[in-house]
Amino acid sequence: MESKILQIHSEYLKKITQADSLSKLDEIFLKLFGKNGEITLIPKDFGKLEKGELTKIAPQFNKVKVEIEQAIEKRREEVREEHYKALNQEDANLSKSVEIKKRKGHLHPTTQFEQETIELFKKIGFQQFESPQIDSDYYNFEVLNIPQGHPARDLWDTLYIDSQKSEADNKKLLLRTHTSNSQVRIMEKYIPPFRMMSLGRCFRYENIDARHEHTFEQFELIYVDHGLSMANLQYLSEYFLKAIVGKDIKARLRPKYYPFVEPGVGIDALCMFCKGETHLQDGQECKVCSGTGWLEIGGAGMIHPKVLENGGIDPKGYSGIAWGPGIERMMMLKYGINDIRLFLSGDLKFLEKF
Ligand code: DAH
Repeated sequence: MESKILQIHSEYLKKITQADSLSKLDEIFLKLFGKNGEITLIPKDFGKLEKGELTKIAPQFNKVKVEIEQAIEKRREEVREEHYKALNQEDANLSKSVEIKKRKGHLHPTTQFEQETIELFKKIGFQQFESPQIDSDYYNFEVLNIPQGHPARDLWDTLYIDSQKSEADNKKLLLRTHTSNSQVRIMEKYIPPFRMMSLGRCFRYENIDARHEHTFEQFELIYVDHGLSMANLQYLSEYFLKAIVGKDIKARLRPKYYPFVEPGVGIDALCMFCKGETHLQDGQECKVCSGTGWLEIGGAGMIHPKVLENGGIDPKGYSGIAWGPGIERMMMLKYGINDIRLFLSGDLKFLEKF
């Protein structure tokens, strides 16, 4: 792998200096950083490396990646300047026309990721369910065992819709704070056993930073059947992480409180950069997981008997699993993205990398 990285480095630096148009540079960029680009594909094989090798190769890879990106950007500037100079020397002839090329777009990376996820869970019998983004207090909180005035409400920074002030409290409308608003809607509509999934946008009155956004996506699984247990939950978490991030990524379930599950857990994924070692070989703390070895991707648990009852299901006969990671968190883990704000920024430099 090391020789491949070095070969890409020397081969492409030469190509970049030789490129004499922006379209040639775009072509080179896509070959390297496109969906199946030579640089994009390299980290996918990191899992096959020995630990020692990885700590040597990963920084080397990052360096080459940054150098090539910078070389492309620098050459772009030069080509633009050469172009302007040539224009200035030409006689201005306004009757000349140029061919305008249409730019080809593609689906947003989050949409691509969601489609991949949907396909993955369809394979093991999960069906898709849409729940509203503007929902009532009732479905977002109350039926999930979070009544009015309950301190657990503070866990969700909610955006209420003002015009509903006059309504009875539980009919108040709000921007859903999580896809868990689908849980009781599903139970009301389907007779168990069932396996359902619900994905989509959620909103919070959030203090925005590199890990928090006011608008983000979640992915909820609701699985109700006889005799389910935390072992099924562990299996689902690993199934997802292994398929999406890589074969050697384990899931860890850590006790955590959510009012609508009992027991409730936080799902952690093994840090894909240090593979749980917490420190890199040179003794430095892993920056991605801040030296903990794990990254939290969301919450889950066994559905609380009260919630099953709220959905008209007898908790003595059935048990249920509810599972709800954040989509952007997963993508950050998969692609090593360090700022959640990039997803909605509309920044083409970011979007064109997918
Ligand atoms: N809805 C929770 C949140 O947004 C995440 C969550 C926790 C979903 C536990 C679940 C669950 O399905 O069982 O914070």
